[in-house]
Amino acid sequence: MKKSTFLKAAFITAVIAATPFVAGAVDHSHHEASVADSGALVEEMKALDAVFREVVSAVALGDGHRVHQALESMHGKMEKTQEALHAGKVVLRKNAAKAAEFEKMDRQFHKSLEALGQASHKGDRKGMTMITKKLLDGCVACHEKFRP
Ligand code: HEC
Repeated sequence: MKKSTFLKAAFITAVIAATPFVAGAVDHSHHEASVADSGALVEEMKALDAVFREVVSAVALGDGHRVHQALESMHGKMEKTQEALHAGKVVLRKNAAKAAEFEKMDRQFHKSLEALGQASHKGDRKGMTMITKKLLDGCVACHEKFRP
């Protein structure tokens, strides 16, 4: 129960942290500045990358507890980048004008992360597998559109 509550809080934090991505992205055309400012997003991506590798391994073994733990470990990292995100330091370097689409993809991605947290908590192996595949699709789709 405690863990579930904590995880929910972590995901709410993640969603809040993710939303202002777009704040600095609107109408951005100065390339030099965007390179300098993309640090927060890349930092979050590195954390996400490590978590997702662990998630893939744990899902392959049907280990809901490990999946849950991996998702929890993201909490601190995402909080850390939250300030930078709120300060508008995150800028999309590609397709910056499509900020609304980025926001939608990001929101859907975090919803799926939340669903994965719930599936892992229940030990629902089939659900974990399906959602993890969906998450991978989310990484690829967003990178195709927004990763320089
Ligand atoms: C909603 C959009 C979005 C989603 C979802 C997303 N990413 Fe990213 N990711 C980006 C963007 C944009 C960049 C490029 C940032 C930059 O360089 O300015 C990036 C960069 C990265 C990087 C940095 C390394 C590099 O060469 O650019 C890694 C690692 C990464 N993503 C991993 C992942 C993984 C793993 C997932 C899924 C589990 C994922 N991302 C999901 C948008 C997303």
